[in-house]
Amino acid sequence: MASIKRIGVLTSGGDGPGLNPCIRAVTRTAISKGLDVMGVKRGYTGLINGELDPFDARSVGGILNKGGTILGTTRLPEFEEVKYQRQAIRVLNQHSVDGLVVIGGNGSLTGALALHNLGFPTIGVPGTIDNDVGGTDIAVGVDTTLNTVLDAIDKIKDTASSHQRAFLIEVMGRDCGYLALMSGIAGGAEMILIPEVPTPVEDVATCLTDAYMRGKAHGIVIVAEGYKPGTEAVLQYLSEHKDELGFSMRVTVLGHVQRGGAPSAYDRILGTRLGAAAVEGLLAGKSGHVTGMVKSGIKYTPLEEAVAELRPVDERLHELARLMEI
Ligand code: F6P
Repeated sequence: MASIKRIGVLTSGGDGPGLNPCIRAVTRTAISKGLDVMGVKRGYTGLINGELDPFDARSVGGILNKGGTILGTTRLPEFEEVKYQRQAIRVLNQHSVDGLVVIGGNGSLTGALALHNLGFPTIGVPGTIDNDVGGTDIAVGVDTTLNTVLDAIDKIKDTASSHQRAFLIEVMGRDCGYLALMSGIAGGAEMILIPEVPTPVEDVATCLTDAYMRGKAHGIVIVAEGYKPGTEAVLQYLSEHKDELGFSMRVTVLGHVQRGGAPSAYDRILGTRLGAAAVEGLLAGKSGHVTGMVKSGIKYTPLEEAVAELRPVDERLHELARLMEI
C-alpha cells in the first residue's frame, strides 16, 4: 500500500455526543504524524459532492465540550450502491486524500467497509448512541446518552411517585435494547421492554398491577423503541385494562433530546482514544478495521465482523433488572 500523506475524516448517520472529541483526536494525531487532514462535511453526501475543507489543529479547537458534530452528518442509504462508492473514491483522489476515517454506526461503517473493499484505505470508529456495533464494548456517545436518559427517568420518577402513576418511557436504540436495559437498571425501572427479550403486553399489565399491590409509589416501564409490538400497543392494552392497574398511566417518548448535549468525561476520553487509534491504525495498514475499546484496551476488529450482526445485549443483565424490581 502506498504511504498515506493526507487523510479525510467524516461523521455519518445519527450524531451523538463525543463525535467532536473524536474528530479533534483524528485531526491532531494526524497532524502530529506529519499528515495533512481534510474535514469532509455532511457525511457521505458531502463526500460524493466534494465538500472537503483543509483542517489544521485550530480547526478543531474549542470543540471538546460540544455535542453534535462540527462536520455535520447525513444519512445516505444510496451509498450502498457501488456507483456512489466509486464517486466517493474519485472525489478523494481529486483532493489527493489517501486514507479515510469514518466515524459512525452500523450503516456508516458498512459504507467504510465498501470503500476498503474497493481498495481505498479506510478505517472506522464506532460512533452511535445505540451501542449496536461489534468490535467495541461501548461506542462513542453511549455514555452521555445513558446519563441523559437516566436524568429523564429520575425526573419522571419524582412526578410519578407524587401522583402514584405508571409511566411508559420510550428510549432510542433502533433494534438494540442496550440503552433501555442499562438506563432501566440505573434508573430502577419496574420493567424493561427490549427487542432481544420478547415480552407480551399482558405481562406489563401484570407487572404494574403487582407493583401497585405491593405498595409501590410508581411504575416505571422503560420501552426500547425497537421493542415489538411497540409503545403504542402497550399503551392501548393498558388503557383497555386501566381498572385493574391501580396506577394511572402516562407516556413520555424521550426522542432526540437523547442525542444532544455536552459529551461526558468518558465520551471525551473514548472519542479521543479511538480517534487517535484510527489514525495510528490507518498508518499501520489496518484499513478495513474498526477501532474499539475492548476490556479497557484498544482493539482493531475487521469491519466485516463489526457490522455483521447486532451487538447482543447481556441477557444476564435483564435477569438482574428483574431481580431488582421487587
Ligand atoms: O442511530 C441513532 C438513532 O438515534 C436511533 O436510536 C434512532 O432510531 C434513529 O437514530 C433516529 O434517526 P433520525 O435522527 O434520522 O430520526
